[in-house]
Amino acid sequence: MSRILIVGANGQLGTDMMKLAEKNGVTCKGIDYPDIDITKTGSVRSVVDAEKPSIIINCAAFTAVDDCETKKEAAFKVNADGCGILAQESQRVKAKLIHISTDYVFDGTKTTPYVESDVPSPATEYGKSKLDGEMQIAQYTENYQIYRIAWLYGLYGNNFVKTIRNAALKKQGTSDGLKVVNDQYGSPTWTVDVCNQIFAAMDLGLKGVFHCTSEGSCTWYDFAKAIVDAYGINTPVNPCSTEEFPRPAPRPKFSVLENERLKKAGVNIMPHWKDAFNSYTMLEK
Ligand SMILES: NC(=O)c1ccc[n+]([C@@H]2O[C@H](COP(=O)([O-])OP(=O)(O)OC[C@H]3O[C@@H](n4cnc5c(N)ncnc54)[C@H](OP(=O)(O)O)[C@@H]3O)[C@@H](O)[C@H]2O)c1
Repeated sequence: MSRILIVGANGQLGTDMMKLAEKNGVTCKGIDYPDIDITKTGSVRSVVDAEKPSIIINCAAFTAVDDCETKKEAAFKVNADGCGILAQESQRVKAKLIHISTDYVFDGTKTTPYVESDVPSPATEYGKSKLDGEMQIAQYTENYQIYRIAWLYGLYGNNFVKTIRNAALKKQGTSDGLKVVNDQYGSPTWTVDVCNQIFAAMDLGLKGVFHCTSEGSCTWYDFAKAIVDAYGINTPVNPCSTEEFPRPAPRPKFSVLENERLKKAGVNIMPHWKDAFNSYTMLEK
């Protein structure tokens, strides 16, 4: 039976990964900073030697996309070198490494969904550090699965759903509306679906990089409208352009990923983003 070590277990995705593992009766141990520091070999090694995992799932990362522009060294330490250390330690104890990556490895200039064979070309320091992490994993171990996800939301941690919901509630009853970018496309993806997909595919002998986002796509504006509608908040949502809402790290215009490899393997269970968001809001109510 697999012994799973979930690293980054207190984060947005890691928390649901722990809960779903427990629900599925999977033996797992969760750990997070500072009880493990993936940038330090000694720290990772002592945890791996104590837990003797057969599978390591890495949900830990430096995820503040804008901060990565100014804290490049710290971002690369966690997102790139941390992955290298995890890969070497996984290889040392013959454990499989499951790692989470991102749509930001692409620059968003394509107009059709990105497949796994598309050549990455990140435009941000976050994306570059995450791509470096993917490459270090491939360099140090053969036994790995990397799942590229995007536009993540869930019950735990901060995300777009909570930001829009809170902003809309604050403005309810005022004449102000929300302005939300309507020229960036992606696929809102629920943490729980990512976890279920990973648990469904992890023991099947699949290796390499997999796109793992919900089906269908929309703009941030479309998603914000769906959020406000789902919670019955009476605040207008107005479309705006990327130029009207500049960010330190440029966001990809087109971030839609096709789960081509999961589909070809016959194991894609990612739902349409609208169905997933409906399930999420039902759970919350
Ligand atoms: N959020 C998204 O929209 C999104 C989209 C695409 C891909 N992803 C990827 O999905 C994965 C999970 O994201 P998330 O939203 O769940 O992230 P999160 O909520 O920020 O969680 C990341 C966790 O990693 C921990 N961590 C940071 N540095 C560490 C270190 N040196 N050693 C050990 N743990 C460390 C953090 O601890 P502290 O809180 O103490 O720093 C935190 O608990 C990441 O790989 C991310 O790149 C996320």
